[in-house]
Amino acid sequence: MPKFLTMDDFNFRDKTALIRVDFNSPIDTQTKKILDDTRIRLHAETIRELSKKGAKIVILAHQGRPGEPDFIPLKEHAEILSNILDMPVKYVDDILGKKAQNAIKKLKAGEVLVLENVRTFPEERKKGTPEEHSKRELVKKLAPLVDVFVNDAFAAAHRAHVSIVGFTALLPSVAGRIMEREVKALKKVLEAPEKPCVFILGGAKADDALEISRYVLDNNIADHVLTGGVAGHVFLAAKGFDLGKPNVQFLEKKELMRFVPGVRGLMEEYPQNVEVPIDVAIEVEKKRREIKVNELPSDYPILDIGTETTEKYGETIRKAKSIVVSGPVGVFENEEFMRGTKGILEAVATSKAFSLVGGGHTVAAVEDLGLADKMSYVSTAGGALIEFLMGKQLPGVIALEKAAART
Ligand code: 3PG
Ligand code: MG
Repeated sequence: MPKFLTMDDFNFRDKTALIRVDFNSPIDTQTKKILDDTRIRLHAETIRELSKKGAKIVILAHQGRPGEPDFIPLKEHAEILSNILDMPVKYVDDILGKKAQNAIKKLKAGEVLVLENVRTFPEERKKGTPEEHSKRELVKKLAPLVDVFVNDAFAAAHRAHVSIVGFTALLPSVAGRIMEREVKALKKVLEAPEKPCVFILGGAKADDALEISRYVLDNNIADHVLTGGVAGHVFLAAKGFDLGKPNVQFLEKKELMRFVPGVRGLMEEYPQNVEVPIDVAIEVEKKRREIKVNELPSDYPILDIGTETTEKYGETIRKAKSIVVSGPVGVFENEEFMRGTKGILEAVATSKAFSLVGGGHTVAAVEDLGLADKMSYVSTAGGALIEFLMGKQLPGVIALEKAAART
């Protein structure tokens, strides 16, 4: 179980709470409007609880990166939050200057203030330890004005940034509800998974799939790794299959062929545990056609796993007690090629196992299929989740644990 403090460990009444959330959302680059408010909705839960507990709430968050089209102020985020909470939410276009300081000092119990995009602070994205970051201007200016730091930004916990770790060196620091829930769910599958434990790895990032497989197999976490998507193509290539020109060219263009030797080594070490598709769906004149992998190479692009693979994987899924899904097994956005992803996710949804699904595309597929409620846990994190599944220590989580050890 997590070794950090939670919101149950602090009396928030009339205290000023600085909360770091991850409001980072997809933005329409033309209109600069927020396209999806899932993350704001999620954090609203933590913020509502703090407000009900009588805290004076100061929100720090980032959106995009300087120089990128989605790097915009948090004004609209504050408006959306206000609508979700159904209460006024203040906003200042400042993070540590007089304007921000005065707004913080004026807060009354239960009120909510959103500060400007924290990445307007020039040093925010420097990497550092809590001690190093505690000496930066942002922390020096804000820490004296607040009583407690709440980190709810699990999705940004893989960043050793100032606003993620800097305050934990100086202030009592606790995990917000989203942080708490994410870490608990992830620790459940990584520390003591009920067996058999199945990892389904798809998506485009074959390098991530390799690193996650390595970690969960070497540490006896996963009993089965089922591969699909572009990651699955690399696994098939590593098994010696010639996928055919368009597919090999695609892997070369994405610089994924260089992971073939690593994947081959993994499969030689764990021949019983790693599974690759036995059939695939190719696109022939915009239509789906299925072929067995021993019919490869193909002159057509492979866009999904085939029916037999879906059934075979389904059997393994039905016997599982713990399941992690990271990445769709096909191009589910295309109706002809959503069948594999649908079959796999339905098998996961109907199983009695503890099921954890995560990553932007996977969550989108789960939501499109209306299966979100049937999963044990849906993570909204991207990079942070991937790093956690690789066994990496997340700086944001470690910083909270260190702060707890001090108390
Ligand atoms: C995310 O969306 O993955 C997090 O908010 C982190 O954002 P970043 O990749 O820009 O640091
Ligand atoms: Mg990112």
